[in-house]
Amino acid sequence: MPDIENENEADMSGAPAGSLAPAQEVEKIGARKLKPSTMMMGHGYDPKLSEGSLKPPIFLTSTFVFPDAASGKRHFEGVTGKRPGGADGLVYSRFNGPNQEILEDRLAIWEEAEDALAFSSGMSAIATLFLSLVRPGDTVVHSGPLYAATETLIAKVLGRFGVHWLDFPAGATREEIEAVMTKASSGRVALIYLESPANPTNALVDVEAVRDARDAVFASAAEKPAIAIDNTFLGPLWHKPLAHGADMVVYSLTKYAGGHSDLVAGGLLGSKAHMDTVRSMRNTIGTIADPNTAWMLLRSLETLELRMTRAGENAEKVCAYLRDHPKVERVGYLGFLETAAGQERQADIYRRHCSGGGSTFSLYLKGGEPEAFRFLDALKIAKLAVSLGGTETLASHPAGMTHLSVPDARKQALGITDNLVRISIGVEDADDLIADFEQALDKV
Ligand SMILES: Cc1ncc(COP(=O)(O)O)c(C=O)c1O
Repeated sequence: MPDIENENEADMSGAPAGSLAPAQEVEKIGARKLKPSTMMMGHGYDPKLSEGSLKPPIFLTSTFVFPDAASGKRHFEGVTGKRPGGADGLVYSRFNGPNQEILEDRLAIWEEAEDALAFSSGMSAIATLFLSLVRPGDTVVHSGPLYAATETLIAKVLGRFGVHWLDFPAGATREEIEAVMTKASSGRVALIYLESPANPTNALVDVEAVRDARDAVFASAAEKPAIAIDNTFLGPLWHKPLAHGADMVVYSLTKYAGGHSDLVAGGLLGSKAHMDTVRSMRNTIGTIADPNTAWMLLRSLETLELRMTRAGENAEKVCAYLRDHPKVERVGYLGFLETAAGQERQADIYRRHCSGGGSTFSLYLKGGEPEAFRFLDALKIAKLAVSLGGTETLASHPAGMTHLSVPDARKQALGITDNLVRISIGVEDADDLIADFEQALDKV
């Protein structure tokens, strides 16, 4: 049987009892620090603890057997926060589990975070983060736009409990951000929350400017709010916000990290202190990822860099083709920022923060909804579906689908027009995709 609760073995490894850290973790060869893509194959898992199984088994259990009563008490002291640092052993599957712990260890590696947490969805990660930090009367300062459900959570759900919000546009300058924070600082600011690139505009947030503005406005450490950022669209490969001043990074792992459009999950990365605060809320409300999903994510992370690299290269080729097509008005692709007129501020943020343009972009066709629908209905390889970051190419119509309920004026302000098609490029052959887009544009 897998020896998941062998305290002696865990003690010998120096790892917390019950966590599946290998006896001797290889993180370096000589002076060479191993890259995340290498670490994804084995980090955080010791086959010796599971009958030599090369891959971690899926631990389908709701609870874990304590070796003795004193250990059980010690574990609960960690779970309940009586002792800081969380449980040092496996307790109950609403709190932790081997698959989730291995996943969390591996997620943290991508952004060199101290710690990470796995959640049942991107939204449960975001909701748990907010619930951990906000109190009635607090203000949340955020960049705009945000993913629609996040906006609903802040404005409508938290609003019902007396939480206020103030926002600044994604591309705002340090001065503009500072002005909003100064206004918010008359009360307690619970959190500064960012999304970059923003869904659905692809507008980038200057994380360094947000950090500098925060440090200038909130002088004392006690009142300094944490900065959290949704890194779903470019992370973890092309954007690493912890390196630019963010304190926490949140993910819909449903997208690129999961990468096969077959699971829903979320993640949060950051310092141990921040993760302890959020873990305690997750323990209470039970928003942890299930073991099967965690296992699928471990498999996905092994190919994360391969998949994202290929999707990024494909998007570059596809966008270069689409940009010059006579039926295309404009392509909103981050890789074109450097050469786009009037986009100097965005290009500057891109240069400082991003190492690639991603594979999700906006295609503005000449015409309106009829042209967009004819294009979507003619696609043969790309699938007509919302979501992004999977191995397969997806295309959708935000104005008529994901953003149907957004008021017209706001849609207009965000550039969500009837001729806009959202595309997430997958890992297919790039020339096949171009052939598909070519034949679909012929039908427009
Ligand atoms: C930027 C962004 N954040 C968060 C979410 C929510 O993630 P999930 O659907 O995994 O709850 C999404 C979903 O599309 C998203 O695009």
